[in-house]
Amino acid sequence: MGPCVWLILVIANEVAALLHPQQPSPCEVVQRDVFCNDKNLRSIPDQLPPGIQKLDFSRNLLQNLTHEILSVYRSVHHLNLHSNQIHFIQPGIFKALNNLLVLDLSENNLDVFAALKTDVGRLPSVESLDLSGNALYTGMSDYFLRDAPALKNLSLDGNSITAIDKSTFSGSSALRKINLHNNVILEIKEGAFESLINLSELDLSMNSITCITDFNLSQLKLLNLSKNSLELFQAIELDTEYELLYLDLRENKISYFPVLPKMNRLMYLDLSRNRLRGINTSGTIEGDLMMERSFKSQNEVSHQDFSQLLYLDMSYNQIKSLPLLFFNSMILLETLNISNNCLETLSVTQEAPLNVLKTLDLSFNALLNLSFEHNTLLSLEALYLQGNYLGTVDSDIFHRLPYIRELHLQQNYLRICESHLLEVSQEPQHHECVSFFSIPTLKYLSLSDNSLRFVPQYAFRGSPLQILDLSRNPGVYIHKNVFSGLEMSLTHLALQENHLQTLNTDLSFLTNLRFVDLSINRLTSLPLRNKDSSIEFLNLQNNSLVTLEYNTLEVLERTLKILYMGSNPLSCCSNPRFLDMVKGESVEIPDLASVTCRYTLNSKNVEINIVDIVQDHCKSLDVKTLNIVIVVATSVGLIVTLVVAFKLCHRRRRRLNSSFKA
Ligand SMILES: *[C@@H]1O[C@H](CO)[C@@H](O)[C@H](O)[C@H]1NC(C)=O
Ligand SMILES: *[C@@H]1O[C@H](CO)[C@@H](O)[C@H](O)[C@H]1NC(C)=O
Ligand SMILES: *[C@@H]1O[C@H](CO)[C@@H](O)[C@H](O)[C@H]1NC(C)=O
Ligand SMILES: *[C@@H]1O[C@H](CO)[C@@H](O)[C@H](O)[C@H]1NC(C)=O
Ligand SMILES: *[C@@H]1O[C@H](CO)[C@@H](O)[C@H](O)[C@H]1NC(C)=O
Ligand SMILES: *[C@@H]1O[C@H](CO)[C@@H](O)[C@H](O)[C@H]1NC(C)=O
Ligand SMILES: *[C@@H]1O[C@H](CO)[C@@H](O)[C@H](O)[C@H]1NC(C)=O
Ligand SMILES: *[C@@H]1O[C@H](CO)[C@@H](O)[C@H](O)[C@H]1NC(C)=O
Ligand SMILES: *[C@@H]1O[C@H](CO)[C@@H](O)[C@H](O)[C@H]1NC(C)=O
Repeated sequence: MGPCVWLILVIANEVAALLHPQQPSPCEVVQRDVFCNDKNLRSIPDQLPPGIQKLDFSRNLLQNLTHEILSVYRSVHHLNLHSNQIHFIQPGIFKALNNLLVLDLSENNLDVFAALKTDVGRLPSVESLDLSGNALYTGMSDYFLRDAPALKNLSLDGNSITAIDKSTFSGSSALRKINLHNNVILEIKEGAFESLINLSELDLSMNSITCITDFNLSQLKLLNLSKNSLELFQAIELDTEYELLYLDLRENKISYFPVLPKMNRLMYLDLSRNRLRGINTSGTIEGDLMMERSFKSQNEVSHQDFSQLLYLDMSYNQIKSLPLLFFNSMILLETLNISNNCLETLSVTQEAPLNVLKTLDLSFNALLNLSFEHNTLLSLEALYLQGNYLGTVDSDIFHRLPYIRELHLQQNYLRICESHLLEVSQEPQHHECVSFFSIPTLKYLSLSDNSLRFVPQYAFRGSPLQILDLSRNPGVYIHKNVFSGLEMSLTHLALQENHLQTLNTDLSFLTNLRFVDLSINRLTSLPLRNKDSSIEFLNLQNNSLVTLEYNTLEVLERTLKILYMGSNPLSCCSNPRFLDMVKGESVEIPDLASVTCRYTLNSKNVEINIVDIVQDHCKSLDVKTLNIVIVVATSVGLIVTLVVAFKLCHRRRRRLNSSFKA
């Protein structure tokens, strides 16, 4: 073979390689993980490297799961077949996959397979199985679970199961976590979960369960029954300790406080959005249970043990009153939410002092009276009282809370005390006002929408407020020394919708103030003089501002980032510095479209958007004005000259006359 022939062969080879490139695998291989997801594949490619641990084949078009396609990958630990079209699984296919720990079969058509009434066979080592979204109905899950000795996590989320049978989980006794969210479960047969001695999390949320009267799954740590139609929840009195830590009963129709296990370690209880009217455990169920329960009184609940409870949410019920002793055993409670109920009064007393409570939400009730005894609520940090009818409370009520940081008091009828008055009178009695003076931990205070008429001087002195909301108190008079003491601390100030005509205090002396809302007032000027000001956000929308003062602009230019300025009767040309700021890059004006300038042109009022003002435009306006000024000035000058001349002449004539007399 001559060198020439050899060369030709080489070239031919190259050309062939170019014309028929070797079929590349559609999958991405990262070490021992293979990603074939989202590729419209109808089968699992068989030329993948050996020793694969993880195979992601989600969102493809696989229909049949058969021996041929899986036997190659005995090493796989984690098989993701989510969102394919699997409707057939060859029985026994998983038997040989001794390494398979996680199997995701969610969003397929496994109802078609289950209708064949064949078992998938043994799942020797699968610990986590996802069967969610397969349109499985009652009994169908059995075909997958009959022989799953290692199964710990199971999801049947989003199927159509109506009942849980006693035998459903008998082949998967190692289960720890079962997710049955979003089915239509009406019935749970007695003993369905009994054999699962390691079961710790059970999610039955979003089903149609109406009643649980003999709860005895003492091994459970988390039980989620939210979004069912529960009217009653009662545990069986056992002499064993229940492990339950989380109980979610939100969004049901419960009207009686649940009867919890006598010996429990419950930490988290959510009863929000139910029909509780009070703390009453009396049930109204038929037959002997009725007889038995009807003796239970309102006090019954206080005999229940809540000594481990950290979180209790009873918001959105119809609770009118809470007996004092209700909180008696809640010695560790940190969060209590009773918002959106019908409470008219609440007293926290030393019998149930709630001394580790950090957050108390009593917002949107009908509270007229509120009292905290001495040595109660000693850890409270956030108190939500908005949307009540509070007017007269003990003036010092908030002074007794040594760690209070946030007071949400908007939408009430409170008055603010003058601090010096309080210093004189030492009696902590019901005043017509509340004191916010010298609360050394207070950072947040909202008194928005309280029909405040007056904010007295030094009202917040000694309270290191960062956020202060005094908005929506139309007609309020704000004393010029109100912010005294807040110079270094205040960062947010809300004063919108107050009908303010002037600000008699210079906000730039609050040197850390970054966020100021003065919108919907009647301000005609905003004097700022201190160049150490830090204002970044300023809302001046809907005021009566004709311009911003030169000093104010000088102060703002250094730090301002966002300015709202729409709906003001601005006169722009007379204020080129403001025009520059608007057109510059450093300040963002989100409501630029409504920032307009007013002129009187040919005795007509004209409004022009500030963006459309060009220098020439201003000049022509200025020249016209100037012309008028010149004409007027000249006329006035002429008249004055004439008058003076006339007077001078007249006087001289008189003087001449008199000289004649002499
Ligand atoms: C899937 O399996 C069924 C039953 O064995 C068979 O009839 C069908 O042709 C198979 N479909 C595919 C795409 O392999
Ligand atoms: C099972 O669920 C638990 C709790 O969500 C989780 O920590 C664990 O990783 C899951 N196990 C498997 C094998 O997916
Ligand atoms: C329950 O968990 C324990 C400890 O992890 C384990 O030894 C036991 O085998 C489990 N029981 C079942 C039935 O899986
Ligand atoms: C209970 O399930 C709902 C979903 O329906 C979820 O939002 C909630 O966080 C769950 N609760 C707990 C305590 O896990
Ligand atoms: C729970 O109740 C069922 C039926 O009411 C009963 O068969 C079972 O023995 C009880 N389990 C425990 C642990 O008491
Ligand atoms: C508690 O329930 C019983 C029985 O339904 C009822 O008679 C009683 O008035 C209720 N008590 C309260 C405080 O709601
Ligand atoms: C209290 O519950 C309501 C409604 O569920 C919720 O909006 C609010 O944020 C909760 N309060 C606190 C302090 O978490
Ligand atoms: C609530 O306040 C009103 C008026 O201040 C008073 O008449 C009433 O006795 C108070 N009720 C309670 C329970 O303190
Ligand atoms: C200014 O605020 C008042 C009061 O909210 C409102 O009625 C009016 O429409 C607002 N004006 C403009 C121009 O936005």
